[in-house]
Amino acid sequence: MTSRQPQPAATHVPPDTLNRETIVAFLGSIFDRRGGEEYLGEPVTMGEHMLQGATIAEQNGQPEEIIVGALLHDIGHFTSEFGTYHPDDTEDRHHEDAGAEVLERFFPSVITDCCRYHVAAKRYLCATKPEYFKRLSPASVHTLELQGGPMNAEEVAAFEVNPNLKEIIAVRYLDEAGKRAGMVTPNFWHFAPMVQRMVDRHCGV
Ligand SMILES: [Fe+2]
Repeated sequence: MTSRQPQPAATHVPPDTLNRETIVAFLGSIFDRRGGEEYLGEPVTMGEHMLQGATIAEQNGQPEEIIVGALLHDIGHFTSEFGTYHPDDTEDRHHEDAGAEVLERFFPSVITDCCRYHVAAKRYLCATKPEYFKRLSPASVHTLELQGGPMNAEEVAAFEVNPNLKEIIAVRYLDEAGKRAGMVTPNFWHFAPMVQRMVDRHCGV
């Protein structure tokens, strides 16, 4: 559940008109309009899941790129927001790529990589950290097999080359943590100034 806080009116912005000044309002409007959608197999909604990860990161004093990475890592579940939706799509079909494609225009690579590689990070951690598997929810164990199962040694070596590996892994742990029924969090607008700072950093403002 999210706490009751004043919110700006939701504004829907056509994706092709997005720019540095409108992207944060657009992302916020997704949380406002669609955050209540079901996160299949989990006791939280999609919006609660992402807000929980960001809130836990903030409570633990993690850097802003980790907080924003957790906040936006599953934004690709709302693929219809980005004009990539097809009626034949299943909900989690390459959602990490759909999200990263939108984020990469506005955010530093560390944020985009936390989104693009959060599924790969699960496969990586299952291959390299035996105790990590125990953190997975039943739904996440199920999708692990659909996503290719644990990485093999070659895939692990290739994954470790990513300069944003530490942040990708941190967001993946927040992905597992953000599935708590009934956790109270701030809403998106609490994080909006931080999200804008990430955009401004990328756009050289
Ligand atoms: Fe997630």
